[in-house]
Amino acid sequence: MHVKDAPARCGHPASEGREKETVMRTVVLALAVLAAPVAAQAEETGAALYRSYCAGCHGVAAAGDGPLAALLTVPTPDLTALAARNGGEFPLADVVRIIDGRRLFQAHGGPMPVFGPMMGGGSAVLDGPDGAVLQTRGDVLKIARFLVSLQDG
Ligand code: HEC
Repeated sequence: MHVKDAPARCGHPASEGREKETVMRTVVLALAVLAAPVAAQAEETGAALYRSYCAGCHGVAAAGDGPLAALLTVPTPDLTALAARNGGEFPLADVVRIIDGRRLFQAHGGPMPVFGPMMGGGSAVLDGPDGAVLQTRGDVLKIARFLVSLQDG
């Protein structure tokens, strides 16, 4: 498997540095592989979608402590405090735009992947804060609504 990266002694497994690189590649690959079967299923709950797409970084309870968070150079936010950070009101439209990739805050091209193109669930409509009608994928809205249920205060 690692033949290409193996030292000249030949036949030996890859060196430690190479192992690290391989681990990183595996993590990236695992994210892509995990996401694929979920997108193929029509009916998933927001909780199940969250676990598949988000918990790896944001943590199962959304506290920002998923296993991949330690590998990122940017801190992974606690998603249970989204309402608290927005004056007590859950910023539903913003969260939808962040998940589907329309709101490119801080780091696009950064560590937070863009999920819009992977999501299924048909199309969904919600009211934006400015009275505008916002359209997104059904699964994006389900995840955002699931996050509402996790808010601390
Ligand atoms: C690869 C790790 C990773 C995955 C997977 C991930 N996120 Fe994030 N997320 C981040 C990081 C890091 C940030 C903050 C830095 C940035 O991108 O600007 C962030 C930011 C956010 C924010 C903004 C928080 C704030 O305080 O404004 C929301 C909301 C969010 N993510 C929701 C989600 C949801 C929902 C999912 C799953 C559909 C998800 N994230 C998947 C790493 C991830």
